[in-house]
Amino acid sequence: MSNDRVIIFDTTLRDGEQSPGASMTKEEKLRIAKALERMRVDVIEAGFAIASPGDFEAVKAVAEAIKDSAVCSLARALDADIERAAEALKNANSGRIHTFIATSPIHMQYKLRMQPEQVIEQAVRAVKKARSLCADVEFSCEDAGRSEIDFLCRIIEAAIDAGARTINIPDTVGYAIPHQYADTLRQLLERIPNADQAVFSVHCHNDLGLAVANSLAAVVAGARQVECTINGLGERAGNAALEEIVMAIRTRKDLLGVYTNIETEHILSTSRLVSGITGFPVQPNKAIVGANAFAHESGIHQDGVLKHRETYEIMSAQSVGWNANKMVMGKHSGRNAFRARLEELGIVLPGEAELNAAFTRFKELADKKHEIFDEDLQALVSDSLGEEAPEHFKLVFLEVASRTGEVPHAEVVLSVDGVEQKVAASGAGPVDATFKAIEAIARSQANLQLYSVNAITQGTDSQGEVTVRLEKGGRIVNGSGADTDILAASAKAYLNALNLMQAGGHKTHPQAADV
Ligand code: KIV
Ligand code: ZN
Repeated sequence: MSNDRVIIFDTTLRDGEQSPGASMTKEEKLRIAKALERMRVDVIEAGFAIASPGDFEAVKAVAEAIKDSAVCSLARALDADIERAAEALKNANSGRIHTFIATSPIHMQYKLRMQPEQVIEQAVRAVKKARSLCADVEFSCEDAGRSEIDFLCRIIEAAIDAGARTINIPDTVGYAIPHQYADTLRQLLERIPNADQAVFSVHCHNDLGLAVANSLAAVVAGARQVECTINGLGERAGNAALEEIVMAIRTRKDLLGVYTNIETEHILSTSRLVSGITGFPVQPNKAIVGANAFAHESGIHQDGVLKHRETYEIMSAQSVGWNANKMVMGKHSGRNAFRARLEELGIVLPGEAELNAAFTRFKELADKKHEIFDEDLQALVSDSLGEEAPEHFKLVFLEVASRTGEVPHAEVVLSVDGVEQKVAASGAGPVDATFKAIEAIARSQANLQLYSVNAITQGTDSQGEVTVRLEKGGRIVNGSGADTDILAASAKAYLNALNLMQAGGHKTHPQAADV
């Protein structure tokens, strides 16, 4: 590999998923993994295999489906974690085990309750164990951003000797400042005698809003892998945003002198996919993928851009997938054209039955809406790509009355395991009345943590995409639904969340202190 290439390691499905409320089903992870592969991400961290049976199945499914990117599972420096990761990755074309242990004084003393020498011993044992099961092993020094440089040199040298081929220096708590983090990388690369036998990687959290700046400073200092997530999703303030890292490297090649293999035209659709699945909206002024990222409001700017784009634009909107947003189909489009367009979007439905069902929904939508865009198709097929949860609750009928000066009222018929039940309820607004009616039947006792509606495309005939986040007993699920009628979309999203809630499951957090 050329020494000028920066490996893009995407951890949306693992560290991104650790963001409260962002947990994803196996099918959702598969859809995102395929979008990442299409974008030519080098390594996809698909999850933490030992965290739960669901995480194991998701890593396994991603490992089996993805051919062009390496697929990685996280594992604490414990035999059981490493064995579970290897098992989940066993059918991967190219699998990687990513094992880690904390190296900062504060973590070693209070979390691990271990002496530094014991931590080195455990790291070496873990890397050797991982190498006995997988050729590609990454070792991370958790909380490296607050670790002592001499200790980092010792443990990293030992991990490379034990067989780690990627060494990751995470700024776990988002504490680093660019010049200081770059200096740490520079010192490690200079002082560790076997540093040339490994790729040095960075993994930055955004607590001070510096995750991207720190990652790029480390690249200048010699790091050649960046760990990042789509839309900067991740714990607390999130991780370094993939789209920002990739576009900074591309736009400032003159200064940084490195490149990535990412096909940047797929950035926007991947961003939208992640946002839709997790229910985490992208702020309008977000770099690269925010709705206003390429919008020029002021007359002076508009005039300049029209005369010569580069006067106010440092990269083209097309280069990250904006304006690819063309009218793709209408009510006269046939089944073959529908299938072909889905394939172009990287969507392959599991079978003919799913294709037929999606095509029927497409025709229904085309009757209501003249222009069907790619985003409409993506929303339309998301049901067919299948949530894991069986449809315990299903919407049969919804009627909502809302009149100025009167209390909104909803009448709902649900099919509960095939048996229809009808109920009516009033509420503060039409959505509230709808949810109250559903709850009168479901009696879930779940707390509604988030309700959000997004127009999928422009215009008042757009489908509304609704996300509903429910919490019960510490378990959080996101339901989604799309329809040109936002009340129907809201009811579908609520029922989807209830069905996911029924599916159950429990996870271990990777940073749990039981090493
Ligand atoms: O932030 C962190 O330290 C991590 C490691 C597990 C790599 O996510
Ligand atoms: Zn992290």
